[in-house]
Amino acid sequence: MVTGGAGFIGANFVLDWLAQHNEPVINLDKLTYAGNLDNLAGLQGDTRHMFVRGDIGDTVLVDRLLAEHRPRAIINFAAESHVDRSIHGPGEFIQTNIVGTFHLLESVRAYWEALEGEAKERFRFLQVSTDEVYGSLTKEAPSFRETSRYEPNSPYSASKAAGDHLVRAYHHTYGLPVLTTNCSNNYGPYHFPEKLIPLCILNALAGKPLPLYGDGRQVRDWLYVKDHCSAIRLVLEKGCVGETYNIGGWNEKANLDVVRILCDILDELAPPTTRDLPLTTYRSLITFVKDRPGHDRRYAIDASKLKRELGWKPQETFETGLRKTIAWYLDNQSWVANVTSGAYRNWLDKQYGT
Ligand code: NAD
Ligand code: DAU
Repeated sequence: MVTGGAGFIGANFVLDWLAQHNEPVINLDKLTYAGNLDNLAGLQGDTRHMFVRGDIGDTVLVDRLLAEHRPRAIINFAAESHVDRSIHGPGEFIQTNIVGTFHLLESVRAYWEALEGEAKERFRFLQVSTDEVYGSLTKEAPSFRETSRYEPNSPYSASKAAGDHLVRAYHHTYGLPVLTTNCSNNYGPYHFPEKLIPLCILNALAGKPLPLYGDGRQVRDWLYVKDHCSAIRLVLEKGCVGETYNIGGWNEKANLDVVRILCDILDELAPPTTRDLPLTTYRSLITFVKDRPGHDRRYAIDASKLKRELGWKPQETFETGLRKTIAWYLDNQSWVANVTSGAYRNWLDKQYGT
C-alpha cells in the first residue's frame, strides 16, 4: 500500500513498481492540488493498481483498506511538500504530516499487532522523509549523516520531523517494524511546476522570468526521481528494521548553476528562436527576486551508508537526469497543459464530486 501515490514521487514509484513487479498496489491519495491522476494514466485498466481517494488521517477508511487488502508493507509518501506553501499557511502541513501520520500509525499498529507468524515478521512501514529535517549546512560543513541532529527550520520540515519522530517512537515503544528514508531534492517526470526545476522549464518555454530567490547561491543536492524509487525499493526489501537511510545524488549544486545548466540544455533541445521568443538564450530570463523567509542555505546528503550496507548508488548524473527531465516535459505537452490550466482539477471534481 502506497500513500500519496498520485503525487510526484509516489506516482513515479507506483509506475516503476508495476513495471518491475506483479505485486499489486493499493494507492491511497487525498488528491490535494498536488495529486494528479494524469500521473497514473499509464495504469488505466491495469488491475494490479487500485486507486482509492482518501485521507491518511481517515481511520475508518484506512482500517477498512488494511482489513480488506492485508498489505505486507505501507510506504508513506503522503504529505504537504512545498516549503513556500508551508510559510504562507502551515495548518495543512500540521494536519497531514503530523496528525495524519499519527492516525495512519495508529491504524497500522492495530493491523500489525493482529497479524501472526510470517505475515507479522515480514511487515514493514516505510516513512519517506527528507533531508530538510536536518536543517541548514554551512559551506564547509560535512554532509548530513543518519546521525545528524534534527534541526528543522521551516513549518514544512518541522512537520516532517514531527512525523518522523512519531514513526521512530512507534518502533521504540510498540515494536512496529519501521524504516525511514531521508532523501535530498528530487527532480524528474510529473514534478509539479511550483518547484524550482519544473517551474523554470515551463517559464523558460513560455518566455517568462526564471525567479531565483535571494542571491541564487543556495545549494541543494539533486537526485533523479527514479533513483529515489530504486533506493526505496531496496530499503524496503533489505533495510534493517528501525534504521534510517539517507538517500542523495552526490550532486550538490547552487540554484543559479542549476538554472544555468537547465537553460543550456533547453537552448539545445528547444532553441528560443524555434518558439518565436525574442531571445538568443534562455539564460537572459534569469531574474533575482525576494528571498524565501528563513531560506536554508545548503543541504547535502552523505548516502554512504546506503551504498555500504545495501549496495545502492544513483544511476543518473545531474546532467543526464536533467536532460531526460527536460525531454519529458517537451514530449508531454498535454500533461503540462492540464496542470498549468488547472484542467486536471476540473476532471477530479467531475469524477469524484466533493
Ligand atoms: P507531492 O506534493 O508531489 O505529492 C504529495 C501527494 O500526497 C499528493 O498526491 C497529495 O494528494 C497526497 N496527499 C497530501 N495529503 C494527503 C493526505 N492527508 N492523505 C492522503 N494523501 C495526501 O510530494 P512529493 O514531492 O511527491 O513528495 C512525496 C514525499 O516525499 C513527501 O513525504 C515529501 O516530504 C518527501 N520528499 C520529497 C522530496 C522532493 O524533492 N520532492 C525529497 C525528499 C522527500
Ligand atoms: O530537500 C528535499 C526537499 O526538496 C523536499 O523535502 C521538499 O518536499 C521539496 O519541495 C524540496 O524543497 P526545496 O524547498 O528545496 O525545493 P524547491 O524546488 O521549492 O526549491 C529549490 C531551491 O530553489 C530552494 O533553495 C529555493 C529555490 N527556489 C525555489 C523556487 C520555487 C528559487 O530560487 N526560486 C523559486 O521560484
